[in-house]
Amino acid sequence: MAKFTKYALFALVCISKGFASDALLTNPVSTSVTPNFGPRTFITRDIKTPDPIPVEGQEAALELMKTGRLYRYNVKSAEESTVSQCEQAVVDYTGHKYCVALNSCGSAIMLMMKCTGLKPGDKVISNAFTFGAVPSAIEHAGGKAVYVESNDAYVMDIDDLEKKLTENPDCNHVLVSHMRGKLGDMNAIADACERHGAVLLEDFPILLEFTGKELTPDT
Ligand SMILES: Cc1ncc(COP(=O)(O)O)c(C=O)c1O
Repeated sequence: MAKFTKYALFALVCISKGFASDALLTNPVSTSVTPNFGPRTFITRDIKTPDPIPVEGQEAALELMKTGRLYRYNVKSAEESTVSQCEQAVVDYTGHKYCVALNSCGSAIMLMMKCTGLKPGDKVISNAFTFGAVPSAIEHAGGKAVYVESNDAYVMDIDDLEKKLTENPDCNHVLVSHMRGKLGDMNAIADACERHGAVLLEDFPILLEFTGKELTPDT
């Protein structure tokens, strides 16, 4: 069986902003009339800004900071640490076997590549449309990015993936980034990776509930 490895490494970053705006907790909309389409409704929220941390989360973070025991190594047993409890909560919620919490998603991506045998100078096929941290993580791991075009739905174009895999037979890593939570055709991507003997890695910071089961791009 070809290499098909899916690692679920979640970057769990707790940022306490100290304020909460009701506008951010909902999707505020505005309606305007455009010449060709008539009245249209737009979501006006800033999609780059995550929802505020709920007040109870802010309070829990403050309580933890007061103790100074933020790490796995300065509590009685690592399993008691808040980090470990958070990892366990993610495992329980998603059904994945393991979860490792890190300081950032970029760090998680870098480690995924290291854990799956990326060597200095190795190519990594990845989405052209993604967050800047993704190619940075490839560089950080010592790899060289080979970019795949997007289709009209802003997800990885399967024909271009096939082309890049064929043109780069020495490439053993495909890193799919589900930018802005948009899920590509994972069955087709997994199939292409399997046929070309490439490890499939995923960057899905906004798709916590994705279980890896059969899904369509619209799911
Ligand atoms: C799709 C995607 N990948 C990776 C990252 C990088 O995350 P971090 O800033 O935690 O390294 C982001 C950040 O928004 C992202 O949207």
